[in-house]
Amino acid sequence: MKLKKITYSNFRNLDTMTFEPHDQITLLSGENAQGKTNMLEAIHICCTGRSHRTSRDKELIKFGSPSAFIDATCMQNDGTHRIEIKLSSTNKKAVRINNSPARRLGQLMGHMNAVMFSPEDLQLIKSGPSLRRRFVDIALSQMSSTYFYNLQRYIKALDQRNSLLKAIAVTKNVDTLDIWDAQLAKYGAYLSVRRAKFVKSLDTKCSKIHSELTGNKEKLEVKYQASFQTDNEEELEEKLVAHFKKHRDNDIKRTTTTAGPHRDDIIMSVNGIDVRAFGSQGQQRTCALSMKLAEVDIMKKITGEYPLLLLDDVFSELDNSRRTWLLNYIGNVQTFITCVDIDKKLLHDRNDVDIRIIENGKLHKS
Ligand SMILES: Nc1ncnc2c1ncn2[C@@H]1O[C@H](COP(=O)(O)OP(=O)(O)OP(=O)(O)O)[C@@H](O)[C@H]1O
Ligand SMILES: [Mg+2]
Repeated sequence: MKLKKITYSNFRNLDTMTFEPHDQITLLSGENAQGKTNMLEAIHICCTGRSHRTSRDKELIKFGSPSAFIDATCMQNDGTHRIEIKLSSTNKKAVRINNSPARRLGQLMGHMNAVMFSPEDLQLIKSGPSLRRRFVDIALSQMSSTYFYNLQRYIKALDQRNSLLKAIAVTKNVDTLDIWDAQLAKYGAYLSVRRAKFVKSLDTKCSKIHSELTGNKEKLEVKYQASFQTDNEEELEEKLVAHFKKHRDNDIKRTTTTAGPHRDDIIMSVNGIDVRAFGSQGQQRTCALSMKLAEVDIMKKITGEYPLLLLDDVFSELDNSRRTWLLNYIGNVQTFITCVDIDKKLLHDRNDVDIRIIENGKLHKS
């Protein structure tokens, strides 16, 4: 897919503007704190309904303004898709898809897809399992709104079960736990099977990308770690029901659901060594980048469309040969790269790159 046009109004520090990007690579260059990441953030919000930096809409609205507005038009094989998002400091965000109001955020999925790589993605490797699950969940949600809805249902059932566990500490009445166990097992099995399958294809793709990116020095392996390894959803559902039962006493004691797909993880190793614990910062960053680039390929395979690729500050930790590799690898994927300095040598003779300068929220041609 290609982003044809995006209008920003009162979004963070950005001037109200309409930007019609290049079909291939747009390089957004500028000094620190000028609005480069803000431009990518707004594109990402059109794709997923959420910012990658904050869950508070208010922060996205220009200081002193009551609301902000993003209006994006992209082209897919099946035609034009228009996404309009109004962010308000007092109301819920209002979303319009192809000129009609959307009742649920889930309706947004699939109209505009993006893969974003940002400095925060180092945490994808470094921090706890929740960010890694989130990475997989966002990817799968963009590819399937059913996945998104089932994820919401799982989260809701988990909340309800946890509230009930707290109540049981007082009432000692465990009657309705079975209902929530059944719900969790049903949606949990759905999520787990799809996550495991996604991570398996991720593993194949990213090990190839990573070895190219590191000049064959590193072999990256990615594995989905769950309580049960099965790709049979019904069988897993039964196993999960038994699993919740088995942990019930402990759950009641701890007043929370201690086991289940919300505790699963993605394990990453480089040359057989756990990169989370032992990887250098550069190694961890490169692993995150390989995973994101692999995600691009998987999305293309599943949806038939390349997503947009948003690379925030990706050059800062790559040497020149890796930068060149990356620019060549991107190929036909419409990509937005932010950077502080442009290496003119790197871009010499490339006609697939449009360089824009961003200064104090204003965009200029270079
Ligand atoms: N709600 C807001 N209203 C106005 N300005 C904001 C708002 N939120 C953030 N900003 C400002 O936007 C500016 C640009 O932020 P952005 O993160 O896009 O910078 P950047 O160009 O990516 O810089 P860096 O190179 O350091 O990553 C910052 O100075 C920040 O203070
Ligand atoms: Mg930035």
